[in-house]
Amino acid sequence: MSIAVCPGSFDPVTLGHLDVVRRGAELFDEVVVAVATHAGKAPLLSLDERVALLERAVADLATVRVAVVPGLLVDFCTQVGATVLLKGLRGGGDYDAELPMAWMNRHLSGVETLFLPAGRQVSHIASSLVKDVARHGGRIEDLVPDGVAEAVMARLGATRSGD
Ligand code: PNS
Repeated sequence: MSIAVCPGSFDPVTLGHLDVVRRGAELFDEVVVAVATHAGKAPLLSLDERVALLERAVADLATVRVAVVPGLLVDFCTQVGATVLLKGLRGGGDYDAELPMAWMNRHLSGVETLFLPAGRQVSHIASSLVKDVARHGGRIEDLVPDGVAEAVMARLGATRSGD
């Protein structure tokens, strides 16, 4: 059985992430969407919120599940029996950021990273840009799966009011 792990911070999940997950589900028997911690990035949404939004976004995909990575990503891959990490690439900037991680993960455990080119319709969508647009009052509904825009706006409102 072929199992791929699709890792990320998913802060928040976007239609770009979903495109990679959906295409991965066509290539592998099972895809585990893995919510992990990115050192140096303070997330806007809580871990529980990110997991819940992802679960809603992949609810129609029978061979996809969502899990939390408690430590090293490669240890999680071993735990779930995955030999491949699945990542989307929007352009050269992503490639430069992803390549050292792919090498490091292979060094640590032999796990390979498979890069899928981002779909043309979603190649401009990044979680960081989505949050920036939302912070400045722009519309993000057509950049993210259902329920995400509301969660982001609620969290931004709570942050502004000091919650
Ligand atoms: O969506 P992101 O923030 O680009 O995803 C990066 C992420 C979370 C996949 C990466 O930081 C990660 O793998 N974190 C888990 C801890 C780990 O294994 N670090 C070593 C990575 S080479």
